[in-house]
Amino acid sequence: MQSTRNKLIELLADNTDQYISGQMLSEKLKISRSAIWKHMKELEKDGYVIEGKSKKGYRIMSFPDKISENTLKWGLHTKWLGKTIIHKETIDSTQFVAHQAARDGAKHGTIVIADEQTKGKGRMSRSFYSPSNEGIWLSIILRPQLQPYLAAQLTLLTATVLAEVIKNETLLQPQIKWPNDILIHDKKVTGILTEMQAEQDSIEYVVIGMGINVNQTKDSFPEDIREKASSLKIESGQDWDIKNLIQHILLYFEDAYADYMEHGFPNVKKKWEEYGFKIGELIGIKTLQKEWDSTFLGIAEDGALLAEDPYGKETKLYSAEIEWFKERK
Ligand code: BTN
Repeated sequence: MQSTRNKLIELLADNTDQYISGQMLSEKLKISRSAIWKHMKELEKDGYVIEGKSKKGYRIMSFPDKISENTLKWGLHTKWLGKTIIHKETIDSTQFVAHQAARDGAKHGTIVIADEQTKGKGRMSRSFYSPSNEGIWLSIILRPQLQPYLAAQLTLLTATVLAEVIKNETLLQPQIKWPNDILIHDKKVTGILTEMQAEQDSIEYVVIGMGINVNQTKDSFPEDIREKASSLKIESGQDWDIKNLIQHILLYFEDAYADYMEHGFPNVKKKWEEYGFKIGELIGIKTLQKEWDSTFLGIAEDGALLAEDPYGKETKLYSAEIEWFKERK
């Protein structure tokens, strides 16, 4: 159940361009005007700046810096994504919480976000380093009407959304390394993990988890990943507003998702290839059966990696170990 304090913030947040009278607040929240006044004082202690004018009422002027359901919702201009926000300061993994919420019936577009994850989960059972307040650790719950085999395309779509937001907000030049790591200057700054619950031909829900290294310094990464990982701060030399980035991600995601549901994969493929890492260059490919070098041609209509087979014929690869040569061969 929503607390009175949250309802009060929501009322104020929905009306930032006008004053709401103490009388109106007291009627809506069914508490006395002096109780409203006490709540306002508590909100100010939390970092909210509230203007109170006699005969007019109250108006919120600014929200505290830290991430919370309320601060994220303020200024979020999405239609359905992030309308329900589950925010935790510290949790094991936003993926675990999102799966549980989805099993309990969470709506399409619900997001789970944490300041810190103690068991951040990466692909292939790897862990994902997610320190407190230095990055974005976010999972989105979707209930798409799609065949389960198409869920992988949502991962590629997510990569394009993150690349676009990073490029537009920071002016850095991100690249997407197939299938979905985002690199800046050849170092990984974001990772995406898509998991789903599905029947044979329908998806019950998908959880798209994304981890974005935002304000870490080099020293804050554990030694074993320090040479491979980076953050927006390291690459740009400045701090970034985490809340603002999240709001942009949600907004861009909503648009890209709508386009994908209406027109399918072609626009995602086009965007992906604009950011594709080492397209047109030689890569090393290793499958269960063989190993060879080939030119990386881009991605196929379904998101598979396109390359040449050992005999020079164009081939699609869905899972292969890729060696991304450091120097142009
Ligand atoms: C990878 O690069 O291997 C994927 C990393 C995915 C990390 C994100 S952070 C938010 C969500 N919660 C998790 O535990 N993992 C994903």
